[in-house]
Amino acid sequence: MSDAAARPHTDRIDAAARVVTDASRMHAVTPETTAVVDMVLDYARRRLLDTEVPLDKPMPPSELRRLAAGSISEDGVGGRRALALFENVLAPACLTIDHPGYLSFIPSAPTKAASAFDLIVSATAVYGGSWMEGSGAVFAENEVLAFLAREFGLPETAGGVVVQGGTIGNLSALVAARDHAARVRAERGQARPERCVVVASAEAHSSIASAARVMDVDVVKVAVGESGALTGAQVRTALDEHGDAVIAVVATGGSTNFGIVDDIASIAALKDEFDFWLHVDGAYGLAAALAPSARHRFAGLERADSLIVDPHKWLFTPFDACVLLYRDPAIARAAHTQHAEYLDTLTDRAEWNPSDYSIQLTRRPRGLPLWFSLATFGAGAYRAAIEDSLALAQRVADEIGTRPELRLVRDPQLSVVVFERVGWEAADYAAWSDRLLDEQRAFVVPSSHAGRPNTRFAIVSPRTSFELITGILDTMR
Ligand SMILES: Cc1ncc(COP(=O)(O)O)c(C=O)c1O
Repeated sequence: MSDAAARPHTDRIDAAARVVTDASRMHAVTPETTAVVDMVLDYARRRLLDTEVPLDKPMPPSELRRLAAGSISEDGVGGRRALALFENVLAPACLTIDHPGYLSFIPSAPTKAASAFDLIVSATAVYGGSWMEGSGAVFAENEVLAFLAREFGLPETAGGVVVQGGTIGNLSALVAARDHAARVRAERGQARPERCVVVASAEAHSSIASAARVMDVDVVKVAVGESGALTGAQVRTALDEHGDAVIAVVATGGSTNFGIVDDIASIAALKDEFDFWLHVDGAYGLAAALAPSARHRFAGLERADSLIVDPHKWLFTPFDACVLLYRDPAIARAAHTQHAEYLDTLTDRAEWNPSDYSIQLTRRPRGLPLWFSLATFGAGAYRAAIEDSLALAQRVADEIGTRPELRLVRDPQLSVVVFERVGWEAADYAAWSDRLLDEQRAFVVPSSHAGRPNTRFAIVSPRTSFELITGILDTMR
């Protein structure tokens, strides 16, 4: 019998003798809902404080259908059974992204404070789209944005919003850039170019091409040399060729594949000669600007018109969050504010409405977990944790250099180490990667560069140790 069947349909819940009906049952405070809240918080607490959570692995659809199908019914199965299904079947079928051995793609390693506070963001039902509805939350998020703007050398007037992820952040920034270019051109009495162009490195993240497709603009992918970094000289050629059609130049502040930072300073210097919007995609790597040892790699960043950095990558917050900052937020506001009769009461005010700065309206104040964690531990703890990943990546690269069966593809600049196992084909990497996961040792997927198979470690967790990584390297002998 389900919990639902055991529960009486009406129940007096307080001294005023309000009756819990079928309609109010899910929202009322009753023994049933109290038990659900307690169970969920207890599970969240256990998961957050458990240091032995296995990596886990994906399950085939047939297996999940066999074990977990049929949970949605007219009467419900009750909180206890639904949570047990999640804990025993669904959660183990999800990779543990914050496991120290999760080293693929770009991992995430939220702090305990940030993850715990994410529960509060849900529990308080705060709306983060407008000042009118969420001024306290918006204020705190803006504290984070102001802190990061200072770190990145942007003027005090810079501002923005925390959006869902780097893809939306890049798209929103490029839409603002195009809108700005169109306004400037209109003011000068110039016609719109037939096609608008975004200039980016051939190594830029796929979300730039995705944004261009959504916007129906072209991307000029500039080939980069051996260093992998886009330079001012290469951008100059593209600007000379495409002239007024260029609405933005994108510099990458830490490529996803290699962690390479484009030569932002030489690209930014072109602003003295050309009129273009400089966007820096630092979704993964820009966090490293907080680390004193890596700050120099981002010289020129202070001239960016917009930039992004994803806290869910290397600023230790749970999914999902992307900090989007504009040098001149008024430009973004003009591009993004949605107008409607029912919204006028919000938008006709001078107050800061986060929804005005990106492609979204309703928003969770997803910057709050970072605010809480930063306020709790201080920026110094962030700098130390990021430095730890940088130092570990360098140590791992040095170690790879001592092993004759391995070959480093490039010296790491940030915390991505790409290397080859001499003599291995793509199938060898795939079999090895599967074995690592089957043994629950690590999650390291095959990759490739210039047609040659390789693999890579992307390190963002301070819980990832040198010993764990040398243990993985030993399996490649
Ligand atoms: C450099 C870069 N830009 C953009 C993105 C896209 O970010 P998101 O996955 O949060 O949409 C990524 C993701 O890895 C990235 O590494």
